[in-house]
Amino acid sequence: MNILVLHGINLNMFGKRDPAQYGTTTLAEINASVSALGKELGAHVEAFQTNFEGAMAERIHQAHADGVHAVIINAGAWTHYSYGIRDALAILKCPIIEVHMSNVHAREAFRHVSVFAEIVKGQICGFGTDSYLMGLRAAVSAVQAGQP
Ligand code: DQA
Repeated sequence: MNILVLHGINLNMFGKRDPAQYGTTTLAEINASVSALGKELGAHVEAFQTNFEGAMAERIHQAHADGVHAVIINAGAWTHYSYGIRDALAILKCPIIEVHMSNVHAREAFRHVSVFAEIVKGQICGFGTDSYLMGLRAAVSAVQAGQP
């Protein structure tokens, strides 16, 4: 099972950025723990981060071509306004799990909206790095159950 974890704009700064919201774990450490859990669950996990919207769209197109089994995405602020990333995700036939480290609903109003909400299988937010691990478990279960 191949699972792609996508990290969007500014998420390379996890560990240095706003520790009250995002803690002090780096993106590399998050990727390592997601990958380790993937091994336990029988999934090969690949991670990709970019600060460029077009590069993210193209990575999603590649995921379509590769036929990945599930996508986990924390698109950062793009979540709240990028119809381009939403349209790219909508091309995929596999389950998509949206994750956020912080509880976006307990923050500024603009973070309460996800333009991906209608096209993802589900959303997980507010659990820090565990949001990614929960997202991975949800993705693996969805694939094993043959869910779209
Ligand atoms: C975030 C929440 C977003 O609102 C914010 O723009 C981020 C990180 C999170 O993981 O909590 O960059 O996606």
